[in-house]
Amino acid sequence: MIAELRLEEPENLARVRGSRTAEMVAAARAGHFARGERPLVTEDPFAIHLAGERWRRVIGSSWRHWLVTRVLLRKVIPTTTYVLIRARFTDDRVLAATERGVRQLVILGAGFDTFALRYPDVGVQVFEVDLPASAALKRERLAAADITVPEHLHFVEVDFERDPLDERLLAAGFDRHAPACFSWMGVTYYLAPEAVTGTLARVADLSAPGSELILDYMNVREGVPADELALFDSLLRFVEKHGEPMISRFDPGSVVDRMGLTGEWDVLRHEFPAADPSPYLGSRTDLPRVAPLFRLLHLRKR
Ligand SMILES: C[S@@+](CC[C@H](N)C(=O)[O-])C[C@H]1O[C@@H](n2cnc3c(N)ncnc32)[C@H](O)[C@@H]1O
Repeated sequence: MIAELRLEEPENLARVRGSRTAEMVAAARAGHFARGERPLVTEDPFAIHLAGERWRRVIGSSWRHWLVTRVLLRKVIPTTTYVLIRARFTDDRVLAATERGVRQLVILGAGFDTFALRYPDVGVQVFEVDLPASAALKRERLAAADITVPEHLHFVEVDFERDPLDERLLAAGFDRHAPACFSWMGVTYYLAPEAVTGTLARVADLSAPGSELILDYMNVREGVPADELALFDSLLRFVEKHGEPMISRFDPGSVVDRMGLTGEWDVLRHEFPAADPSPYLGSRTDLPRVAPLFRLLHLRKR
């Protein structure tokens, strides 16, 4: 039975470079939507259609869900609570930007993001930037679920390690003279540091004044509390085993500088949700503790 649930065996790894982790975070949102105590931290009714058949079977069965979350993945499961918080942080920032009149959202490393489906009426053009394989798998799963790709959603195929983000975005209809919101969640740690700074330099070039940037990053090992180092090491081993190693980490004291963001951007928020998760979690007790490995940044272009 456990062999049947062996999640470390990718269904078709060669074809899905990049999308293994996208699938897992979609599964975290889908599991929370199906099983979480109300009110939810984040509501994503579409995630279940993107998480893939294997995760659908897990989420659809109480005992399988228990076995996977409490036994098979117990060492890394606090990461899922962080993923829910990150999703909520993103929605809150993006919706606030739309209230300020921002009409373009660029989701860098979009994976199985569903903002465009969940908020079709906020008047935003959504540019989902990702590797071709991840985008193709997403389209395939949307089609299989009979979900039509809305007109305001544009897929932009880019490898941050190689391709010119600016050219591809402009070709897809992005307007560099109008403010935009750039969201880069769950991606920086999978890239070489030069790809992080290179991508952010292009984002800065594409950003009209008033544009916003939200992203998250992984803390350096020295910044992780001693009693959470086992979680840190387990997570690194886990993602490596899935073919998507986490290779970049930043010190919170120097991250803004090291990412090349000093000068052009004002930092509006720099959050460490594990230190005070109460704005997101309230008094709920149905979720594992928050993994204290990641931090969130919110910046606005001068
Ligand atoms: C963990 S998922 C994050 C998905 C989504 N942003 C979220 O927060 O749930 C990481 C995403 O980054 C994408 N990615 C990884 N390396 C990339 C690269 N070099 N260029 C473009 N996208 C990349 C993957 O394809 C995947 O969709």
